[in-house]
Amino acid sequence: MFDRNGNDNSNYNQMIVEEIRKSSEKVADLVNREYLRQKNNVELIASENYCSEAVMAACGSCLSWKYAEGYPQAPITRTSGNKGRYYGGTIIVDELEEYCCDLWRKVFKTDYHVNVQPHSGSQANFAAYKAILEPGDTILGLNLDNGGHLTHGSAVNFSGKLYDMHFYDVDDNGRIDMEDVKKKAEELRPKLILTGASAYSRIIDFPAFAEIAKSVDAYFMVDMAHIAGLVAAGEHPTPFGYADIVTTTTHKTLRGPRGGMIFARPELAKKVDSAVFPYAQGGPLCHIIAGKAVCAEEALRPEFKTYQHQVRLNCAALADEFTKMGYKVVTGGTDNHVFLLDLSDHEFTGKDLQAACDEVGITLNKNCVPNEKRSPMQTSGVRIGTAPMTTRGYLEDDFRKVAHRIDEVVKKLDAEKAAEAKA
Ligand SMILES: Cc1ncc(COP(=O)(O)O)c(C=O)c1O
Repeated sequence: MFDRNGNDNSNYNQMIVEEIRKSSEKVADLVNREYLRQKNNVELIASENYCSEAVMAACGSCLSWKYAEGYPQAPITRTSGNKGRYYGGTIIVDELEEYCCDLWRKVFKTDYHVNVQPHSGSQANFAAYKAILEPGDTILGLNLDNGGHLTHGSAVNFSGKLYDMHFYDVDDNGRIDMEDVKKKAEELRPKLILTGASAYSRIIDFPAFAEIAKSVDAYFMVDMAHIAGLVAAGEHPTPFGYADIVTTTTHKTLRGPRGGMIFARPELAKKVDSAVFPYAQGGPLCHIIAGKAVCAEEALRPEFKTYQHQVRLNCAALADEFTKMGYKVVTGGTDNHVFLLDLSDHEFTGKDLQAACDEVGITLNKNCVPNEKRSPMQTSGVRIGTAPMTTRGYLEDDFRKVAHRIDEVVKKLDAEKAAEAKA
């Protein structure tokens, strides 16, 4: 793992590169170049993180060779009834999957059913919808321009094509407008009310959502992909006990392998399992399930709590520094690991800033802001997250310095646009 200065205290990646080189010079060189890019850059992508070498090793293990369509025998699937594999030789991967499920229930202190097979967050959402909805059913979710994910109803995604999507908005301060949620829920009487986001910096009020869902007899689902690490560490209120279904990715704040998971009230277990396999996927990725189990063990350690707390402190310090320099931070600050800078009063776009930051070794991404006037390919904002660099040991002062480096890039872009306008 790299430290704050880009020193790597392990030779894991170099070992991997040399193994790859035995079959492909080209791929080895590409992996090595990406390794160096990540090592030397300040990574501020809110959906990324650096997982441990133990997670990486589990994902690169012999488990990658094993097919195991289906589900383990009891005990974990006792609530679902979907038991048994379609392949032999699964005794060990059965034990692994059961172990992984048990660990995740411990991490989130829940007795919900858990399915650790989804290959990604999008696959998890696809299966979660399938478990409780029919095509054409109405979903009420967060407006995509205001932080919702592609799988929450984008017109180009399966969610927008298969379901009748409607959206609630944020208020003038950029916070989820619970009055709007209530009003639209009463008007539409959706089958599902969905919350969770890819770019929302404030605490989401799960009890209030659950109450609204109950009042209109809707299912309530939380996609906690971004905040799952904070939830696990008690740094964000939990959706368990309020939501009927909870989906997540494992590679963002949770700091695990790339993948997804679904948690559900026990009465939905069978439907969820059938929606993952055989409906949405074939064989589970046993190696990734091993990585998810290692990640869960790490998440149960005290250091994980300390880490998540620091992620939040760092994010607050970074947002605060931008505010002090006169920038518009959407919602005026952050309660979690992410925030949006609203640059709509500048002549350059979010895309321009993303590219200019890339040139000086800072990785962040363009993002729409509330009431966005530009296209999603241009945008008027950028999204900034503190999870990866906190893994590398950055503290508040390090992030304050990052704010000033980004400010220098912004000033340069402003000057270039001013010169262009004069010319
Ligand atoms: C809220 C949310 N849900 C789901 C996903 C999808 O995850 P994946 O990229 O693993 O499909 C993302 C990804 O960024 C996300 O932010």
